[in-house]
Amino acid sequence: MMKILFAASEAVPFMKTGGLADVTGSLPGYFDKKHFDVRIIMPKYLCMDEKWKAQLRFVCHFYVNLSWRRQYVGIFETVQNGITYYFVDNEFYFAGDKPYHNIYEDVEKFAFFSKAVLEALPYLDFWPDVIHCHDWQTGLVPVFLRTFYGDQRCYSNIRTVFSVHNLKFQGRFSLPAVIDITGLPEQIFSSDKLESYGEANYLKGGVVYADAVTTVSPTYAREIMTPEGGEGLDGLMRAREGSLYGILNGIDIREYDPQTDAYLANHYNETNHTEGKELNKLKLQKLLGLPVDKDVFLLGMVSRMTDQKGFDLIAYVMDELMSTERLQLVVAGTGEARYEEMLRYFAEKYPQKIHVTIGYSEELAHRIYGSCDAFLMPSLFEPCGLSQLMSLRYGTVPIVRETGGLKDTVMPYNEYEQTGTGFSFANYNAHEMLGVLRYAMRVYYTQRKCWNGIAERAMREDFSWKKSAETYARLYEDIVGRP
Ligand code: GLC
Repeated sequence: MMKILFAASEAVPFMKTGGLADVTGSLPGYFDKKHFDVRIIMPKYLCMDEKWKAQLRFVCHFYVNLSWRRQYVGIFETVQNGITYYFVDNEFYFAGDKPYHNIYEDVEKFAFFSKAVLEALPYLDFWPDVIHCHDWQTGLVPVFLRTFYGDQRCYSNIRTVFSVHNLKFQGRFSLPAVIDITGLPEQIFSSDKLESYGEANYLKGGVVYADAVTTVSPTYAREIMTPEGGEGLDGLMRAREGSLYGILNGIDIREYDPQTDAYLANHYNETNHTEGKELNKLKLQKLLGLPVDKDVFLLGMVSRMTDQKGFDLIAYVMDELMSTERLQLVVAGTGEARYEEMLRYFAEKYPQKIHVTIGYSEELAHRIYGSCDAFLMPSLFEPCGLSQLMSLRYGTVPIVRETGGLKDTVMPYNEYEQTGTGFSFANYNAHEMLGVLRYAMRVYYTQRKCWNGIAERAMREDFSWKKSAETYARLYEDIVGRP
């Protein structure tokens, strides 16, 4: 039995700010249980929902040294959907109303977490063969492991995987501060290790020290090796090319299933999706106060409102789109104030056509997937993207920019061969996006059979975790077998 420990700053259902949590919380459930025991360790945030906190069981406590500091660590555990979750407790670090605050607090917080993960192992009754780290918050785990624990055999046998879910976030901080926080010897801060552009960089630490590096789609793996997509680290990524794998994310197809989804008024599958979705659409329009009209093109978006997601393109052509085309737009999400305000502004300007919900509601998200005709995702960059996978599964035709995982998962419609599962455009250009939106609407309004064909092919695609879990399993076996 191979033992794998996921170390992450968030995982569903306990804490989620983005797609990372969907991955860390759902992937462990898809390994072959006869051969793999996959568990998760994450912080016990004070802002976690009471319902989850109440279910945690105290395991033990101890103290961990972080340079000159000596800090309390409590370990809690619970089993959720058959998966064991461990939680690191320390109310000094994990207090507050959200998991991340500012880089000042977060660098120390996640140095502490990374050290606590390694120190917790003797108490867990679960000695991992592999620690699988996710994003910069856990970048120091491989660094600490090799630097402080190298002479202890049980630790030196552990292999590490570091997964990049978004290269834009690196955990960069001033060198003297990180030296002081971590207690790592100065030679670790050379330019071939933790140093990057004059700062200490946690993500770089993970990438340099891990036995294998993965990211969440094959196209993104290629993009991050280029100056355009490398966020300043393309040289590093090229240096690790031999151990860099692009493994596509999946989705939890039990949770996202239009045949059973509890949030949907009406269930459907690939044979009856047209009628099935129509009823949902009418209900959603009614709920949101939009004109109830089964024939209008209903476009959805569920997204973090950041520049990554392409909101600048939308702002640029929104007036043109709304004043010339017959459509309704439904948006849900939270993020940067400038995008929230932009969307509110347009929703007020076009109350008959646009509805914007600032906030995150699982129910509304599911209803958007299960009711809209199409789903818009014009990302500037997209490591994998999960919303387009959910849209495909619900027969909601994705309209995307060809970047990262969007390029790997949405096959552009070909009207001559009647193939494809969505629409896409290549350049980060608002009028290119507008052009493809108009093309999609033309197909929708004038060739409905072809449109329905696209939706049906989308629904028949398989983006379950099964394939990816097998690929990770082979990777674990490969690195564990190495001397
Ligand atoms: C990040 C990326 C997104 C990816 C997710 C899970 O949120 O922006 O593209 O799907 O992580 O890997």
